[in-house]
Amino acid sequence: MLGNFSYCNPTRLYFGKGAVENLRTELGHYGKNILLVYGGGSIKKNGIYDQVVSILKACGKNVTEDAGVMPNPTTEKLAEGIARARACKADLILAVGGGSVCDYAKAVSVSVHCDEDPWEKYFIRFEEPTCAIVPVACVLTMVGTGSEMNGGSVITNHAQKLKIGHVFGTEVFPKFSILDPTYTFTLPHYQMVSGIYDIFNHICEQYFSGTDDNTSDYLSEGLMRSLIHSSRIANKDPENYEARSNIMWTATWALNTLVAMGKDTDWEVHMLGQAVGAHTNATHGMTLAAVSMAYYRHILPYGLQKFRRFAVNVWGVREEDKSDEQIAAEGLAAMEAWMKELGLVMNLTELGVREEMIEGLVKSTLVMQTGYKVLDTDEIRAIFKESL
Ligand code: NZQ
Ligand code: ZN
Repeated sequence: MLGNFSYCNPTRLYFGKGAVENLRTELGHYGKNILLVYGGGSIKKNGIYDQVVSILKACGKNVTEDAGVMPNPTTEKLAEGIARARACKADLILAVGGGSVCDYAKAVSVSVHCDEDPWEKYFIRFEEPTCAIVPVACVLTMVGTGSEMNGGSVITNHAQKLKIGHVFGTEVFPKFSILDPTYTFTLPHYQMVSGIYDIFNHICEQYFSGTDDNTSDYLSEGLMRSLIHSSRIANKDPENYEARSNIMWTATWALNTLVAMGKDTDWEVHMLGQAVGAHTNATHGMTLAAVSMAYYRHILPYGLQKFRRFAVNVWGVREEDKSDEQIAAEGLAAMEAWMKELGLVMNLTELGVREEMIEGLVKSTLVMQTGYKVLDTDEIRAIFKESL
């Protein structure tokens, strides 16, 4: 049964080829000072930077740049962004990039007018903002995280070996996001498939929890089927607009809070993956791919009926006269085969993890309470070992 909930998603989306033109009208709603945030330079190579800056100039904005946001943005970089946003009195933070850039922009937005240490306040104590929030908007160039339409912000503290996400409320969601699927055509294959698995896993994290009958899970099954179909096309033909636009749209719905409404969610794969990220700085989607099969096979007996349903409704496994266990196992085998077909990293060794690092990974893993099995330390250790 669906639990009670309140649902509101305030982010306005502009989707499709040429969607960046909508910046012109949107910028009219904000003051003159824009903090333009971007990553390591891909937007300069593919021309997105020029398009965005020419619109900002045409709209008469004062632009301060904050470049060099790294994948898995750090506390040190966050401090730099806060200082820059304060110095330019930013009226709007415009994030042009992937999840890292957009997450970082949100972390800056809640910290500019805050006197406390943002790491301690938001990522250790999980407090809500108590100060004015600078509005954020996003021009998305990498598909996967859903950051373009959610309140998620994931920051890495290398000194503490922790990578932690805070899911902020709707006041921190981007005010608007520009989603042009052609902007993703220049992504390297590794990033494209990593993003695809990130999307898939976001849906799994919300699906593999609870035993009730609710519409959110049916929506999730539809999203997963669309993603599997389009990912196979994009894997062979990355410039297939139909496939890339479907993937972009699925990513947004996979993590804009909708499919979590009224139900429990898991998120343990992300906790395992974030521990790996904190120790290796590996690409987010690949950290999830590397631990997923060991985790899902481990929890399968505790959520047998849902894994059976996943096999039949998502992967088309035929029931015939097989046992529930057999059907469920065939579903996971189909998922594993699809992951290999995409070329995902299927083990931790390839991400730089060695056996002697496992105790550190175990310490960095947060334990969630609402999956099919609340993991103890021995189980976490065993999953990491099996994933090597
Ligand atoms: O930095 P540049 O030069 O731009 O290169 C980036 C980066 O190296 C490159 N890239 C992006 N768009 C491109 C492109 N290269 C060529 N053409 C383009 N159009 O791709 C690389 C990865 O970018 P990044 O932003 O790091 O990837 P992603 O979108 O996967 O974001 C990952 C971060 O988001 C967090 C992750 O933990 C990680 O820190 N997450 C955020 C979530 C949220 N907000 O809800 C949820 C997710 O589960 C995730 O945890
Ligand atoms: Zn993710």
